[in-house]
Amino acid sequence: MSKCLICENNFKPFVDFGNMPIANAFAKKVVSKDNYTFRMKVGFCENCYMVQLIEQPDREKMFHENYAFFSSTSNYMKEHFKSLANSIAKFQGLNKDSFVVEIGCNDGILLENFVFDGIPCLGIEPSENVARVAKSKGIQVISDFFDKSIVEDVLSSYKRADVIISANVMCHIPYIHSIFDGVKALLKEDGIFVFEDPYLGEVIDKTSFDQIYDEHVFLFSALSVSTLANMHELELINVEHQITHGGSMRYTLAHKGIKKVSENVSNLIIKEKKIGLDKRHSYEGFAKDVDKIKCDLILVLKDLRDRNKKVVAYGATSKSTTVINYFGITTDLVKCIYDTTPIKHYTFSPSANIPILPYEEFRQSQPDYVLLFAWNHATEIMRKEKSYMEKDKHWITYIPKVEIH
Ligand code: SAH
Ligand code: TYD
Repeated sequence: MSKCLICENNFKPFVDFGNMPIANAFAKKVVSKDNYTFRMKVGFCENCYMVQLIEQPDREKMFHENYAFFSSTSNYMKEHFKSLANSIAKFQGLNKDSFVVEIGCNDGILLENFVFDGIPCLGIEPSENVARVAKSKGIQVISDFFDKSIVEDVLSSYKRADVIISANVMCHIPYIHSIFDGVKALLKEDGIFVFEDPYLGEVIDKTSFDQIYDEHVFLFSALSVSTLANMHELELINVEHQITHGGSMRYTLAHKGIKKVSENVSNLIIKEKKIGLDKRHSYEGFAKDVDKIKCDLILVLKDLRDRNKKVVAYGATSKSTTVINYFGITTDLVKCIYDTTPIKHYTFSPSANIPILPYEEFRQSQPDYVLLFAWNHATEIMRKEKSYMEKDKHWITYIPKVEIH
């Protein structure tokens, strides 16, 4: 039995991926198998509806000076965050007297839009290397972990925020109560707290199990977010579905009783209950569905190897660490992974030691098949590679099922 991080209720895991390395620990040299791992199991708390990792590595092991994820590698995400900044500025009527805070601003992909529009803003970002890129764009950044203890410091130099935003960060933080306490203290009376993360409903529907890795401690739903908000005198006032990261949800929260609650919230909660996201038994088939994808993909990769086809992969994502290590993918099956992120080049994938090579070498490598680990960017990537891939080459995808294109 495990204790829920939200309500301390006891619950059992519904899927166990075994021992996993740090998802973004791309190593400069081949590392031995006995390097750091943690046991990756996921459970559902029937009391507060939160789906969560049971164990998670210390935050300093994941977020540091050599953090490997740079948000601005996707042009689509740049557009997405520009439109998020615009819609928030419009909704809250932001201007040069307003104040926006972003938790986990990474390389400044979102805040650069506020800087461009002359709206004062501040990023809080513990991974120094990505924070430096944000600073170089003229964004003010505090290089630290956000939690309730740093709000006093923020308030001694800045004012309360009209908007607090956080994209793909809330789901990373096991000490979420401290975050919500901090948000409650930092947010103006009529302010809004907007965050978006991969959506539980889509992970279950598509069996996108690779959204589960060390950094993703929670998979949120409207059910769990509204329960959590209530515990902090906050209120979920809107939910908006996003196509990013394979299916995400944008949650807007405000101080309780201050803003009008959209009917989107009750509609989504009704839908979630209808599909059983509030019941333990709905999660029981998940592990079996993952294992079906595992069997099918390994069968395809072994067959290609036996037929002397060259298989490479595209996108050294955090998600791929779960796929590679849970499925047991080796260089025997996938020669290397091409990626655009400079810090990942000439490194090796966590634990499995698959070489990561610069994207610039992808086309010269003449693969027959390309396993798309960055499947969440499929539209952007397949469009970019269309003319090259047409010449007798094939993509392999595995979410929601194994397909050869
Ligand atoms: N918002 C960006 C980055 C997501 S990656 C995007 O959507 O692309 C997650 C980021 O959260 C990392 O840059 C990590 O350093 C940061 N992070 C992790 N814990 C944090 C905390 N407690 N406070 C602020 N940022 C945090
Ligand atoms: P992403 O799927 O956004 O994140 P995560 O690490 O959370 O699973 O990561 C995308 C990775 O794919 C990143 O390492 C950059 C790489 N990438 C490319 O190599 N080419 C591209 O065109 C895009 C969009 C991403």
